[in-house]
Amino acid sequence: MIPINQPLITKEDAIAVYKSVKSGWISSAGPEIELFENKFKKIIGKKYCSLVANGTAALEIAIKSLNLKKNDEVILPNFTIISNILAVIKQGLKPVLIDCDLEMWNMKIDDVEKAITNRTKAIIATHIYGYPLNMQRLLKISRSRKIILIEDAAEMIGNKFKKKYCGSFGDISTFSFYANKHITTGEGGAILTNSKTLHNKIEELKNLCFGKVNRYNHSDLGWNYRFTNMQAALGLSQLSRLKSIINKKIEIGKIYYENLKNNKNIYIQKPRMGIYKNIYWVVGLLIKNKKFKADMIRNKLKKVGIETRAFFWPMNKQTVLKKLNIRFNKQFPNSEYLSKYGFYLPSGLGIRKEQVKKVCLEINKIF
Ligand SMILES: Cc1ncc(COP(=O)(O)O)c(C=O)c1O
Repeated sequence: MIPINQPLITKEDAIAVYKSVKSGWISSAGPEIELFENKFKKIIGKKYCSLVANGTAALEIAIKSLNLKKNDEVILPNFTIISNILAVIKQGLKPVLIDCDLEMWNMKIDDVEKAITNRTKAIIATHIYGYPLNMQRLLKISRSRKIILIEDAAEMIGNKFKKKYCGSFGDISTFSFYANKHITTGEGGAILTNSKTLHNKIEELKNLCFGKVNRYNHSDLGWNYRFTNMQAALGLSQLSRLKSIINKKIEIGKIYYENLKNNKNIYIQKPRMGIYKNIYWVVGLLIKNKKFKADMIRNKLKKVGIETRAFFWPMNKQTVLKKLNIRFNKQFPNSEYLSKYGFYLPSGLGIRKEQVKKVCLEINKIF
């Protein structure tokens, strides 16, 4: 089987983790944590960084740190992972969903502008599957209306928009270091901001809001979303080769693009579209010819030993939200199209060129 994601863990990575374990710093204290936080924030271009348990935890903490009021509105994409909306709902806030476009697969910024009301307090700008959002535009919109911008850059470690790193734009930015991310620590996440006040709150929330005078008299309901020193050791080791990681991902994306671009039945994203560079968190394939459904093609690929993964299932169709009686009286044709006709291909850092070519060959054969 060619797996959907094969991480690339080098000998140096393994030695770094071994050393950390042997040092005895195995929980959330230890020298590597601060080193990783300092290095990561410096690369991205923010003043403060808090490492946390995962990207979902990062979003939950980010939203809670804003101290918004019940039913305040938060704008976010419909075509994304559940982590975005659950962070909003769990704080009693009202999610306002935006459909995506069919080329970039990111939320449509024109629609963000139209959705703003005087109850809108935050926008979650999630970069989806490889191309960055136009953060300059989103910043302008949010600044002019005094709306907080949360940038979910989980899928975008190392990509830039107009020469600035993704994750450097938001008032708060979040990342994930799950096994399929450009930098992985197994599980893990980060929250970055330039605000000392927000950073202090974030640090409290991720660590159970221990009391300042009496440690066990807590000031708020937080979480234990701490990150371990062992993970930080792995992250640090990987960060030192971020450039080559990004280049490898782009190389994978380019081979797919070159070998599939002439297939008229499908759409495959270009390595670059104008000002937008694709660093292929994953390599997505969108079927244009409606005669074929994603499930049908995925089954055929499975039979020849190729693992694929469905695209995100849009938020407006989520069973859990229906059960909670959260409804959206709007149409989301593009998100629904992507979820039915899109899926992504094996694109982990450990994949070999011959494997990518084999996947392309099989896809072209099936169509
Ligand atoms: C855009 C986005 N945000 C958040 C997450 C959640 O990250 P984690 O799996 O670390 O909780 C993911 C996971 O893939 C993601 O793609």
